[in-house]
Amino acid sequence: MALRTLMARKSLASAAIRQGYGGLGLLQLRSLQTFTLPDLPYDYGALEPTISGEIMQLHHQKHHQTYVTNFNKALEQLHDAMAKGDASTVVKLQSAIKFNGGGHVNHSIFWNNLAPVQEGGGEPPKRSLGWAIDSNFGSLEALVQKMNAEGAALQGSGWVWLGVDKELKKLVVETTANQDPLVTRGAHLVPLLGIDVWEHAYYLQYKNVRPDYLKNIWKVMNWKYASDVYEKECPTH
Ligand SMILES: [Fe+2]
Repeated sequence: MALRTLMARKSLASAAIRQGYGGLGLLQLRSLQTFTLPDLPYDYGALEPTISGEIMQLHHQKHHQTYVTNFNKALEQLHDAMAKGDASTVVKLQSAIKFNGGGHVNHSIFWNNLAPVQEGGGEPPKRSLGWAIDSNFGSLEALVQKMNAEGAALQGSGWVWLGVDKELKKLVVETTANQDPLVTRGAHLVPLLGIDVWEHAYYLQYKNVRPDYLKNIWKVMNWKYASDVYEKECPTH
């Protein structure tokens, strides 16, 4: 995830001086960091006809960018509130941080979960992830059916995930509401694949028929990414 350090020392220094902390207090202040929109690993139109270029462009440039902007804004406000010792504002900011920070985390994974067909999109998982899917769910088809059913049944906006419990070394299917990341369902859960079931991910092309979007998205699923994450979390040797 892209991370950039801002030139915030000047404002930190003046805040510290205003607060009367003097030179000593400056040593306790950290630089303010901001998050940036990651580039897509393919062109906007590269997932057509499964996902239109128009959807991909809006989703990335408008929706994801807005999460990043609002996440940075909330972090800046948090930083200010902490500098002022304003506990109630610190608490008030938590929901904006969770929502917008979650949106940034989830979408950064989502872009990597997809790949153009000519670059391996839709090719079934191999190696240890393929075997783990068979042993946890019976077959890849059964897993896809389960994720499609849970994604279609999810009320409102959210995500359906294939994750691995890195302690139990077990695959799980979970859903999360809004922009909650998978880790909110369990501290040991690591996302392998996340499918965005917000309307902004499919409505321009699939209208209200979310099941068709879910059925088609597997044609551009990047199982290689999921396998790489799985093998890192669950090495076989
Ligand atoms: Fe989205």
